Amino acid sequence: MSHSGTFLMEFSTQTTASAHQIKTAALAVGVYADGQLSAAAELIDRAANGALRAVVKAEFRARPGATLVLRNLPGVTAQRVVLVGLGKREEYCARTHASAEQAFASVCVSALLTEGVSTLAALDIPGTPLRARARTAAIAAGSAAYHYDATFGKPDRDARPKLRKITQVVARADASQAQQGLREGAAIANGMELTRTLGNLPGNICTPTYLGETARKLAREFKSLKVEVLERKQIEALGMGSFLSVARGSDEPPRFIVLRHGGAPATAAKKAKAATGPVVLVGKGITFDSGGISIKPAATMDEMKYDMCGAASVLGTFRALAELELPFEVVGLIAACENMPSGRANKPGDVVTSLSGQTIEILNTDAEGRLVLCDALTYAERFKPSAVIDIATLTGACVVALGGVNTGLFSKDDALADALLAAGRQSLDTAWRMPMDDAYQEQLKSNFADIANIGGPQAGAVTAACFLSRFAKAYPWAHLDIAGTAWKGGKDKGATGRPVPLLTQYLLDRG
Ligand code: BES
Ligand code: MN
Ligand code: ZN
Repeated sequence: MSHSGTFLMEFSTQTTASAHQIKTAALAVGVYADGQLSAAAELIDRAANGALRAVVKAEFRARPGATLVLRNLPGVTAQRVVLVGLGKREEYCARTHASAEQAFASVCVSALLTEGVSTLAALDIPGTPLRARARTAAIAAGSAAYHYDATFGKPDRDARPKLRKITQVVARADASQAQQGLREGAAIANGMELTRTLGNLPGNICTPTYLGETARKLAREFKSLKVEVLERKQIEALGMGSFLSVARGSDEPPRFIVLRHGGAPATAAKKAKAATGPVVLVGKGITFDSGGISIKPAATMDEMKYDMCGAASVLGTFRALAELELPFEVVGLIAACENMPSGRANKPGDVVTSLSGQTIEILNTDAEGRLVLCDALTYAERFKPSAVIDIATLTGACVVALGGVNTGLFSKDDALADALLAAGRQSLDTAWRMPMDDAYQEQLKSNFADIANIGGPQAGAVTAACFLSRFAKAYPWAHLDIAGTAWKGGKDKGATGRPVPLLTQYLLDRG
């Protein structure tokens, strides 16, 4: 079985003047509901002597998301012209450019995937800024083309997207902006692809060892990346008693993964850089969460293979920033293990000692994410970070609060929180800020240790964040609870690749 059927799309630009002469399997152009043509459609119509407009009048209502494929238009080199319905013009233009572009690109790509063609030229949509729009289009196209077949006995060749190349058609003056945006979008899409596949892989394949191997493979592929994969003995030597207490319940050995991008500057530059330490991304890597002795109910327990999506998003983001060669240091930390019931597993009431020295009373073994993350957060101190962001499928309570729309954002640092919220809006991978008042900390009082690992039934996502905050006092810190956004359940079950767009955008904005 091969699990790395990486499907990477190629993106490029071409200029508008010659739209009708582009040699491509399909050229997508937008049409508005009132019969108005987008600038691109207008160009094609002129080249085709009015043939496009005639078809629109006769039989295309241009509802949002509707498509119609025209073949062999006279005067047009493209084999097919795909009309894409944009809905009413005012409504369409009132949307943010990003969401408009996302809708357009994913409709184009879905239409063309089923056409089985290899090239798409998406013509531009009115409005600026082009770089952001091109980025969004590339992300949307890459996401729409994602296909998982790693664990099928006989992968369905026909179900695989055949679309390989996407060309965005733009005015000559805009070409470099568009290229930059497409480059960023492609890197994000490639990162999301990795994140999704790691999430979708089952727990018996995507083990802590597998995550470590994946990190090593990334470092072999990208020169800017260095990786260290610590094994149980080394994790013991460090003193990560809380992380290890979770790992001990499973026969699957744990891994602590340290990724570094950039950095290691010459000694002179090093001093100058010391003022601004690296950004550290910390991922929860529970490759399967059974709950442990506080075992979960059977229904939908399979979805707990996704409990490593925080770790997968760190790997995906590193793939993106390495591909983009971002010119500053970023550190990634992943605490990976299984949460299983066994004779060596944590028991309710057990007290463990974290790397920070603080003791923790484990009142519920299913609140294991915070037990592995707290030691990683303490480990992060050694990098003297300018910001630490942890990413975790941490609480069912966050799913109740925010559903699958927004990631939960927790931080006491307004500047960091605002930067992350803005990056989420920009990349259409939104987060919503949750409260972190000190008053919630009371719920974590223990009679037998410095802190309890659960805070009772109220405000579960907040008390989980409050628990982490006790280990993140040495630097600006934010926590992203992606329990609701990292994957979808039901008949569309699958990983989403979130929050790779948010994290990569945040790093791009810093640079
Ligand atoms: N991985 C789960 C959180 C989770 C549950 C994410 C369901 C998505 C869907 C986490 O380890 C967990 O089990 N949390 C408990 C905490 C509780 C025991 C305080 C939860 O949310 O129920
Ligand atoms: Mn759990
Ligand atoms: Zn968990």
